[in-house]
Amino acid sequence: MNIALNEPEPAGQVIIEVRGLRKWYPVSGRSKDPSRRGERRYLHAVDGVSFTLRRGEVLGLAGESGCGKSTTGMTVLQLHKPSGGEILFDGSDLAASPSAKSMKAFRRRAQIVFQNPYESLNPRFTVAQSVGEPISIHFREPAEARRARVVRAMERAGLAPVEAYLDRYPHQLSGGQLQRIAIARAISVEPEFLVADEPVSMLDVSIRAGILNLLKHFSREMKMAILYISHDLSTMRHICNRVAIMYLGRIAEIGSTDQVLDHPQHPYAKALMAAAPVMGGRRRQRIQLEGSVPNPIDPPSGCRFHTRCPMAFDRCRKEEPVLRAAAAGSEVACHLFD
Ligand SMILES: Nc1ncnc2c1ncn2[C@@H]1O[C@H](COP(=O)(O)OP(=O)(O)OP(=O)(O)O)[C@@H](O)[C@H]1O
Ligand SMILES: [Mg+2]
Repeated sequence: MNIALNEPEPAGQVIIEVRGLRKWYPVSGRSKDPSRRGERRYLHAVDGVSFTLRRGEVLGLAGESGCGKSTTGMTVLQLHKPSGGEILFDGSDLAASPSAKSMKAFRRRAQIVFQNPYESLNPRFTVAQSVGEPISIHFREPAEARRARVVRAMERAGLAPVEAYLDRYPHQLSGGQLQRIAIARAISVEPEFLVADEPVSMLDVSIRAGILNLLKHFSREMKMAILYISHDLSTMRHICNRVAIMYLGRIAEIGSTDQVLDHPQHPYAKALMAAAPVMGGRRRQRIQLEGSVPNPIDPPSGCRFHTRCPMAFDRCRKEEPVLRAAAAGSEVACHLFD
């Protein structure tokens, strides 16, 4: 996979702004914490996430399994109801009871591609039916116009010749072809914002670059804003303008791809980068992370990374840090930078 040079900040206008987003899932049992005894317990999957995305920009969301990446994507898209915070899409607030009309428009303008195309496509639908379904929901058009949209979406997704695919069923196609069909389905309604949740992690390594290039093309040529979710930092380098590192439901560091991946500032981001394989086969000295990931039902007080942080001091146990500019091109939530 060649390394692409990405503009850190494309000049497009902000299409989505997320402020203090929360998604808490209720869990069984009551709190045993003396100050909250008897209260309902929640799993804090996303707990105060803020970011903006411009048209034509790809923002990567990385972090260990269970840190809340997928929940962030699903909640931003309103596929899960937020527990709190604001989601401003093209200037209007979606988290506060949006009208049915603006919600329907949002459902067209914001789309998702999932990790597993075998699960995301209906096995009983032909390719033409799968790609055409969102079109018939969102556009009242004669069959011919709908067909033209299906063909155009499939061409854009690199499925040529289109006729060879239209009448086939998922079981007749490879994983890479199916993921392109899932992508064609998502872009068939001309979305301006796309969440791509681990879109290549189930695919053969040899076909990943093709799918990533396709997403990059959409961001550059169609000015689509993309939230690219992955735990694979090397693919982030390939397509992201900026990267956010999540830990236990919060963003620990966010900034330009080069800055965050090559010069991480937050102790957690440093540990994550050190643990990741480095391009070209070199490996940085591995920083050993102390302890295991805490339970998101009762996240640690103060900075939630303090239980594993080699730099933690007293304040970290008491006070939650907020994102602040720490270096050129990055913001870090860490008391070392206050
Ligand atoms: N529907 C749900 N109900 C209850 N808890 C959930 C639900 N969905 C996710 N969680 C929990 O929320 C936390 C965040 O999960 P999420 O799937 O967002 O993580 P992730 O970063 O996408 O992980 P992965 O890299 O494994 O995909 C986890 O602790 C998970 O168990
Ligand atoms: Mg996930």
